[in-house]
Amino acid sequence: MKIFLDTADIEEIRTVARWGILDGVTTNPSLFAKTSGSTYEEVLKEICGITSGPVSAEVVAEDVEGMLSEGRAFAKLAPNIVVKVPMSEEGLEAMSTFADEGIKTNCTLIFTANQGLLAAKAGASLLSPFVGRVDDINEDGMQVIRELAEIVRFFEYDSEVLTASVRHPRHVTEAALNGSHIATLPFKVFQQMVHHPLTDKGIVQFKADWQKAHEAAAAKA
Ligand code: E4P
Repeated sequence: MKIFLDTADIEEIRTVARWGILDGVTTNPSLFAKTSGSTYEEVLKEICGITSGPVSAEVVAEDVEGMLSEGRAFAKLAPNIVVKVPMSEEGLEAMSTFADEGIKTNCTLIFTANQGLLAAKAGASLLSPFVGRVDDINEDGMQVIRELAEIVRFFEYDSEVLTASVRHPRHVTEAALNGSHIATLPFKVFQQMVHHPLTDKGIVQFKADWQKAHEAAAAKA
């Protein structure tokens, strides 16, 4: 499974890129709002300079023409830009047009397998069900992943399921087990996946034992 970083924070992106495991980045207007000092376009260009994987840039227009004009401008910023379009009647029309123009899209704000199916038919490259927000309303976000991943594979759509709105490491394991092609994670979840109390304790113990042995050898010499 590919793993993307769900952020517009350049330092977080640089950090995970250095770990050698970054497959792409997703941004949205709320994530961009947490940054300061640069335009959205400048941030996107900088991200595309760090990763060659897909970088999602979200449109805010609600009408088809507006989505097309924002998306075409994003697509000119770098070859790895993927235009993020919300699930809606206008969004479907815009995604179909982008597909005809060879511009890749990520359909966002998917909450049911049916919405994902429609986005796949409209030619979206990435289908983003929001598991955390579904769980937040006491429903099963992972069921959407399970159903949509099966539909995409059964009909061999040229789309990938991207598990979004990830809240904790267990979501990542479940997404992988349920056949999601990609999961996009906040930086904190990346860190939580790296660490385990027994790993951290083991590192401290090995270091202490090594020092003890080293000191004993030095005392004998
Ligand atoms: C990513 O593509 C989505 O915009 C993001 O994962 C949404 O996450 P949230 O539900 O935590 O805002």
